[in-house]
Amino acid sequence: RRILVLNGPNLNLLGTREPEIYGSATLADVDDLCREEARRHGLEATCRQTNHEGGLVDALHEARSAGDVVGVVLNAGAYTHTSVALLDAVKAVRLPVVEVHLSNPHAREPFRHRSYLSPVAEAVVAGAGVDGYRWAVELLATRYGG
Ligand code: DQA
Repeated sequence: RRILVLNGPNLNLLGTREPEIYGSATLADVDDLCREEARRHGLEATCRQTNHEGGLVDALHEARSAGDVVGVVLNAGAYTHTSVALLDAVKAVRLPVVEVHLSNPHAREPFRHRSYLSPVAEAVVAGAGVDGYRWAVELLATRYGG
């Protein structure tokens, strides 16, 4: 049984992208810490990143049909604030999704204040940097990994 860690657009640039906002850890570091946290709970973590909206939708569908995914940690990046398709996908797959943001979008520009995903998310972690991913994995493992 496993947790899907799904990162969206521009998160492949983590570590070099606006480090004053997003920190110096890389996506590989995030993936490592998610795998480590999942393992601590006797689970695996599958880590995916895509810059494409439809790729995020596909990854959610695949997680559902795989049958062994207990939940999804999702940082949809800017698609958080724009994507009805992603909202519909989260509803359709009926897997628990924890929405994660490295930064706190509510403390930033107004266009980041709306999330299409929060209403259908199991939980939201924002502003905790890479620790947010660890907590999201822990939450899913505790609630659904047993
Ligand atoms: C982000 C916040 C979004 O507003 C932004 O578009 C991102 C990253 C975060 O992790 O803080 O790409 O999701």
